[in-house]
Amino acid sequence: MSASPGVWTRKHLLGLQELTATEIETILDEAGRYKSRWNAGETKFDDLKGIAVANLFFEPSTRTKTSFSLAAKRLSADTVDFTASSSSLTKGETFIDTALNIQAMGVHQMVVRHSSSGAPEQLAREVDCNVINAGDGTHEHPTQGLLDIFTIRSHRQSLKGLTVALVGDIKHSRVARSNIWGLTKLGARVIVCGPPTLIPSEVKEFGVEVAHSLDQILGECDCINLLRVQFERQRGAYFPSVREYAHLYGMNGQRMKRAKSDVLILAPGPINRGVEITPDVADGQNSVILDQVTNGLFIRMACLSLLRRATENERRKSR
Ligand code: CP
Repeated sequence: MSASPGVWTRKHLLGLQELTATEIETILDEAGRYKSRWNAGETKFDDLKGIAVANLFFEPSTRTKTSFSLAAKRLSADTVDFTASSSSLTKGETFIDTALNIQAMGVHQMVVRHSSSGAPEQLAREVDCNVINAGDGTHEHPTQGLLDIFTIRSHRQSLKGLTVALVGDIKHSRVARSNIWGLTKLGARVIVCGPPTLIPSEVKEFGVEVAHSLDQILGECDCINLLRVQFERQRGAYFPSVREYAHLYGMNGQRMKRAKSDVLILAPGPINRGVEITPDVADGQNSVILDQVTNGLFIRMACLSLLRRATENERRKSR
């Protein structure tokens, strides 16, 4: 199901792998319209009036959960935040039963984060709601990929011909996968860079280049996205020490001197200061890390709104 220019027809947002470049641009453009209206002083929109949005987070989150919650509220939706640790999951209820019960309370859209890759897709098969993947295992984190791309596009106009490095723990990163799909579809050159143990061999099949030395690629990069080392997903040691990782792959003041003067420094967060990025770089003039967070809100407003419109259009057609 692909979209004609500017028209969104999908019921769910599960990943960027299945989207066309046109669909990705449709979301970015819609987010841009919300951002312009917000900057012009509009603070409340009625696009989701009468709609209930549930945030189902089975893994911790600061940015994504808060951002989706605020995005839904700004669109005038009713919102409910579900926390796995204080739910009946602890009494043995399954993930799908939990979701079906929440749907039975009249929820229209579900935003789901889960440690299992594929959980949002499974949910989308079982419920009538729109499902948005807010990060599943090591698979995808589509709205993070979209907000990263939106942030780059807002500084550089076009992705075509830009060199973007994704540095760090590619193996365990759903953010890396969503960035790879989105960036390559929009014409960027993507280099994944990290220790050989943290770069899966199949990544070359995704249309990216692989590097193991950050110093070697530094001067070529227009954007550097510093991914967190995901210690919680790792089984065993992937590099000798955190100090050695920071020495080889951490972005610091010395490396900034050798990078392009206008290089954009991105990080999906949470950032580990002193590991993948030093404080002077995280808070420096090339950093767009907090812009990413701000833009995330507009991306999430766009996704919630487009999915709902598509569902309502389908309903009208089937009447
Ligand atoms: N970037 C991101 O997904 O952050 P959270 O885990 O805080 O949501």
